[in-house]
Amino acid sequence: VKDGFLKDVLEGLSGSPKSLPSKYFYDAEGSRLFEAITALPEYYPTRTETALLQRIAPELSAHIPDGATLVEFGSGASVKTRLVLDAAPQIARYVPIDISRTALAEAAEALRRDYPALTIQPLVGDFTQALQLPRSPGEGPRIGFFPGSTLGNFGPRQSERLLTDARALLGDGSRFFVGIDLVKDEATLVAAYDDAAGVTAAFNRNVLVRVRRELAAEVDPDAFDHRAVWNAAERRIEMHLAARIDLVIHVEGRRFEMKAGETIHTENSRKFDLDDFAAEAGAGGWRVETAWREADPAYALVLLAA
Ligand code: TRP
Repeated sequence: VKDGFLKDVLEGLSGSPKSLPSKYFYDAEGSRLFEAITALPEYYPTRTETALLQRIAPELSAHIPDGATLVEFGSGASVKTRLVLDAAPQIARYVPIDISRTALAEAAEALRRDYPALTIQPLVGDFTQALQLPRSPGEGPRIGFFPGSTLGNFGPRQSERLLTDARALLGDGSRFFVGIDLVKDEATLVAAYDDAAGVTAAFNRNVLVRVRRELAAEVDPDAFDHRAVWNAAERRIEMHLAARIDLVIHVEGRRFEMKAGETIHTENSRKFDLDDFAAEAGAGGWRVETAWREADPAYALVLLAA
């Protein structure tokens, strides 16, 4: 992991504009901060998606075959998973995939306690890389679960690739249940990524805290301001870390100069409308079986069929 991290950081800081891959947000501290974000008053997606899921779970259950395997992409604390498992006791097996080993271990332990009949096979890994699912004798069809509008953190081409890979991983007869945040007014969108308490700012800076600690880099995370901006042309919220002053970052004998105001681009969160999403899913080998929509704040849960 360290080599991949170093390579990605050197590459990102060498670029113009500078950037860092967002997957490095999620170490143990980052995962904890992200859980705190999901409880913020400004961060509507989690609350909205959870309420929508709660409401439609019985309908969703009618689309899930007996003995199915639920495969979750980026499972974190597996909170929403419980709503699916409670409504669909016919699910026999759960494969949570997450990059954070600690988050995965804690979630699996809690689920084992509460769902003793469920077979749980956690998979530590980056779900954007080629993965092999653990096989089980007589296993049923697979249902992918990708909530949280995490798909929006990938660009259109990466997203199409991810959908194509998920189609291959999940196999024939599978479904893919995806949460997507929808386009809405700019003020609501920006506030969700720039909360008053500064939790999202701490989450954003945490990537530099990791760079400093894990790569023995010389960088002061507190010398950066958190910025969240709506890019209307690309239909995405962008997150940046803006240098407050002229400064230098040292990593492995390399130096990266930054002017005051220059930014490191750390994340994108695309916002969809349903037609665009259906087209993107189609390009990845999926068709929309059912879409459930919340009106305000606008959000959708979409069940795709292979
Ligand atoms: N999938 C989440 C989103 O795009 C991830 C996220 C929420 C996030 N808040 C964030 C990522 C803040 C980076 C910073 O909404």
